[in-house]
Amino acid sequence: MADDVLVEVRDLDMAFKIKGQRGQPTMLHVLHKLSFDIGRGETLGLVGESGSGKSTAGRILVGLFEPTGGSVKLFGRPITGPERRANLAAVRSRLQFVFQDPHAALNPRLRVGDSIAEPIDIAGTMSRRDRNDRVKELLEMVGLPRDSAERFPHEFSGGQRQRIVIARALALAPAFIVCDEPVSALDVSMQAQIINLLMDLQARFGLSYLFIAHDLAVVRAVTHRVAVMYAGSIVEVAPKDVLYEKPQHPYTQALLDAVPRPDPARVRPQVIGGEVPSLLVPPPGCRFHTRCPHAMPRCRVDIPVLRETGDGRQTACHLYEGPSVIPSAARDLPRSAHGASSAGDPSLRSG
Ligand SMILES: Nc1ncnc2c1ncn2[C@@H]1O[C@H](COP(=O)(O)OP(=O)(O)OP(=O)(O)O)[C@@H](O)[C@H]1O
Ligand code: SF4
Ligand SMILES: [Mg+2]
Repeated sequence: MADDVLVEVRDLDMAFKIKGQRGQPTMLHVLHKLSFDIGRGETLGLVGESGSGKSTAGRILVGLFEPTGGSVKLFGRPITGPERRANLAAVRSRLQFVFQDPHAALNPRLRVGDSIAEPIDIAGTMSRRDRNDRVKELLEMVGLPRDSAERFPHEFSGGQRQRIVIARALALAPAFIVCDEPVSALDVSMQAQIINLLMDLQARFGLSYLFIAHDLAVVRAVTHRVAVMYAGSIVEVAPKDVLYEKPQHPYTQALLDAVPRPDPARVRPQVIGGEVPSLLVPPPGCRFHTRCPHAMPRCRVDIPVLRETGDGRQTACHLYEGPSVIPSAARDLPRSAHGASSAGDPSLRSG
């Protein structure tokens, strides 16, 4: 099945040089040994609290950041190491990024058609007439009138603007799109429309997505598998129903328990207790041990690594390192019903 793997990430590390407490340069280690694949036509969800490194991972996958360690292969070509530049140039037209904020993503002074055609103009491979026909075709694909090309972004609603951004992302017929919180700036009815559009486009063109979002209900609706990040590491990755119906990692369980219920009077949402750990001085051992209700002495010392735990799932937790060490209490940690809300997860949002 190797031919069907579009994105292959192994032991990915990322550190940014920042100013330390006394102004001297210091390294902020943001990603640690991330490993995952994304298949052709697959959507992998990426969830986790603010600052866990989701956007950084997404930016690396479209070539916007060069990682400090590990490897990334896109379409079988390494975009890390000595071949980075040549291979990125070869695959760039097949990669796209859709950001959260459709207002910021469009130049207010450019007509919509010129915004959508930007990638075509940069590639410089189409005649003017073919380019204009392609813009109209793209507008139709995303459900906007063909004459929208002559209008300006301020004439459109937030949802329509996100359709324009998606049309631009599709201009060069990409195979892989990183969607970083693509619907969080939209109201709930617009969210559903944009999600349906992304799913229709995937069915039509066999697109692969990395779908980054805070809203766990949206992620469940859109993805095939979900990776959960905590403080720069993936702690659990599984097919979505496996993950949502029986989350294994204590952090995944806490994250799902924090989802607001449709009837808040009935079940009070829990907020994950404790502080998000500092990336500058991370806790030793398992980074979640400072907040984990099941922490054991070894959790303060040994870093757990992702291991297969059945049902296509991998979990990084000492509780699951072999059938003999899984206490029954850990297999069935108390959880409330979850997953029905599309109202977002304010307890996990930044700002
Ligand atoms: N260019 C940069 N320079 C220095 N630090 C950065 C840079 N980009 C991100 N960071 C830091 O890396 C960490 C991870 O940030 P990132 O934006 O990837 O998190 P995130 O999971 O996407 O968060 P959010 O949910 O708020 O979007 C944060 O501590 C952030 O401050
Ligand atoms: S390794 Fe230990 S501290 Fe970390 S999540 Fe598992 S039980 Fe909790
Ligand atoms: Mg982000």
